[in-house]
Amino acid sequence: MVNESADQLIVAIDGPAGAGKSTVGRAVAEQLHLEYLDTGAMYRSVTFAALRRGLDPSDQEAVGALSEQIEIEVDRERVLVDGVDATIEIRGREVTSAVSAVAANSRVRAELVRRQRAWVAEHGGGVVEGRDIASVVFPDATLKLYVTASARVRAERRVAEIGGDVDEVETSIIGRDRQDSTRVDSPLIEASGAVAVDTSDLSIDEVVAQVMELIPS
Ligand code: DC
Repeated sequence: MVNESADQLIVAIDGPAGAGKSTVGRAVAEQLHLEYLDTGAMYRSVTFAALRRGLDPSDQEAVGALSEQIEIEVDRERVLVDGVDATIEIRGREVTSAVSAVAANSRVRAELVRRQRAWVAEHGGGVVEGRDIASVVFPDATLKLYVTASARVRAERRVAEIGGDVDEVETSIIGRDRQDSTRVDSPLIEASGAVAVDTSDLSIDEVVAQVMELIPS
């Protein structure tokens, strides 16, 4: 277990899909001059690799072993999986519908948590976003945030970005929330000591300003 030293600034951001975690996380990272890690992209990368190999995403053993073998590079602009640019494909429908099964795999989780801790140690801190960052990966983070918004607002934002039917998108968001928060290993929860930020009625700038006030000086 990585012991976060006092001089390492770690901002842990959890919350359901589409609540604005990435937008807020990236903006906060920029203001704090910290690197930013989207851990959802790592679960998506394992899913992408599994599908490419024709594996069943819910095959615990095969996908678990695969997660330990592949190279995943996530930076601000792109995602490389074994050197292949997967930036677009990891956001596609195929990966999105299979990723919950992969994220429920304990062997995959153990491997990705290990990589996330190594990443933070290597970068001397960072803004890390996901579902279990404050509860499992960095329970001693400098600041722990639980960013949320109503399912309706999240659906409306998604439709504004990529189109679709709001009711349908809302139903799929509620389904994914349920899968993420009821899985046995590391379910999505509001960690103890986390500050809840509801972005439903706030602009990004307002949320970022609110978060910056919470950073200890
Ligand atoms: O944030 P996202 O939609 O890109 O996440 C993709 C999936 O990975 C989603 O099902 C939640 C899961 N996930 C997780 O279980 N733990 C994390 N730290 C990050 C994402």
